[in-house]
Amino acid sequence: AAGALWGGRFSSGPAPEMAALSVSTHFDWVLAPYDIAASKAHASVLAAAGLLSDEELAGMHAALDRLAADVASGEFQPAPTDEDVHSALERGLIARAGAELGGKLRAGRSRNDQVATLYRLYLRDAARRVGGLVLDLQTALLDQAEAHPGAAMPGRTHFQHAQPVLLAHHLAAHVQALGRDVDRLVDWDRRHAVSAYGSGALAGSSLRLDPKVVAHQLGLDRVTGNSIDGTSARDFAAELAFVFAMLAVDISRWAEEVVVFTTAEFGYARLHDAFATGSSIMPQKKNPDIAELARGKAGRLIGNLTGLLATLKALPLAYNRDLQEDKEPLIDSVAQLELVLPAMTGMTATLTFDTGRMAAMAPAGFSLATDVAEWLVRQGVPFRVAHEAAGACVSRAESTGRDLDDLTDEELADIDPALTPQVREVLTVAGSLASRDAVGGTAPVRVAEQLAELRALVGAD
Ligand code: ARG
Repeated sequence: AAGALWGGRFSSGPAPEMAALSVSTHFDWVLAPYDIAASKAHASVLAAAGLLSDEELAGMHAALDRLAADVASGEFQPAPTDEDVHSALERGLIARAGAELGGKLRAGRSRNDQVATLYRLYLRDAARRVGGLVLDLQTALLDQAEAHPGAAMPGRTHFQHAQPVLLAHHLAAHVQALGRDVDRLVDWDRRHAVSAYGSGALAGSSLRLDPKVVAHQLGLDRVTGNSIDGTSARDFAAELAFVFAMLAVDISRWAEEVVVFTTAEFGYARLHDAFATGSSIMPQKKNPDIAELARGKAGRLIGNLTGLLATLKALPLAYNRDLQEDKEPLIDSVAQLELVLPAMTGMTATLTFDTGRMAAMAPAGFSLATDVAEWLVRQGVPFRVAHEAAGACVSRAESTGRDLDDLTDEELADIDPALTPQVREVLTVAGSLASRDAVGGTAPVRVAEQLAELRALVGAD
């Protein structure tokens, strides 16, 4: 019956309005396998404390195994009268182990320490899956970078042409950002590999159960050091919601570039037919919907983070039912990333770059002006003077509708006597790229090193 976990002091069952608001099985059912694993560990600890005989422990484990199989096959499902995943599974256990034995498992634990532990377990697995999908996207970006080692493109600041860069360097920048997201997932996992079992409802357990055994059996490193904090903290969820939102934002920056790069104005890249969509009215259209959805979903994941933080703000200790609102945002963020990441990976892997177009645009907008200034500095000219002289070159070229390398030797010398014809060595894209050879720069030799390092991190294809 409804309220099966707490009916003792109640003279009536819950009103339909109460039950409708309270029920959470439509989303917390994802915790079921973790709930059963934790129940098996808890049963062992009850037996170790003398609260279950060896025979009862064997019967309990067998019943829990049957329940796990029935949950996995879909044979056992939550009923409309089950309040949450924990109530549903107790009903399922009692149906398999009998009321007497099944009723013993709840000793020494509360749904509060249960859910705080199970949710961490669920999120750890989800974080691992998402991390694997990020590696796939990094691999696709890295494959493209390695396939175009010498391709130049305009590098931009303020979205204006700034200096030429290698396409591989640009793609590797996204791989770097995604790598930090993976680092954050790993770091998050280490910090929150903690079991709250033993915290009870909030004050701890009096039954001499060893919480370390439960933690160990669940693959968690430690036990929470404070039962109030153990049952009421949800910073682990908020922190992961941030990592997921940051990841979505990082993905959205590449997505936005794909949208721009595939326009007629840019013409830097073409989408594979399998990773693009058409228009119901305009026959010529090929739309970057994957990139757009990825961009849009980032807003949704930011919402999941801010919504959860708003739920947590000013909540008094310890457990409050508000905390049940902690699950849907993260479950949604995981689901969205599990859709976005594979699609972005496929789209990236099948993108065709027009390296000729990109190379032609690389020197446009006088993007070699900085090279002129820095060449002058290498000849001993103070940078302030060099910057003025290079600016004058741009002005002269622009006002006469020419490029920098169209200026004559006389015009250059007229602007500044230090501008000898030797300056032409940096007035090419290749010369400019090769000269930016500090660590992390876009010089081909540095980019090759960078790609090798990233490949070692991301793994072989
Ligand atoms: N379903 C609840 C949650 O997700 C856990 C149960 C705690 N309920 C309670 N009345 N103490 O937070």
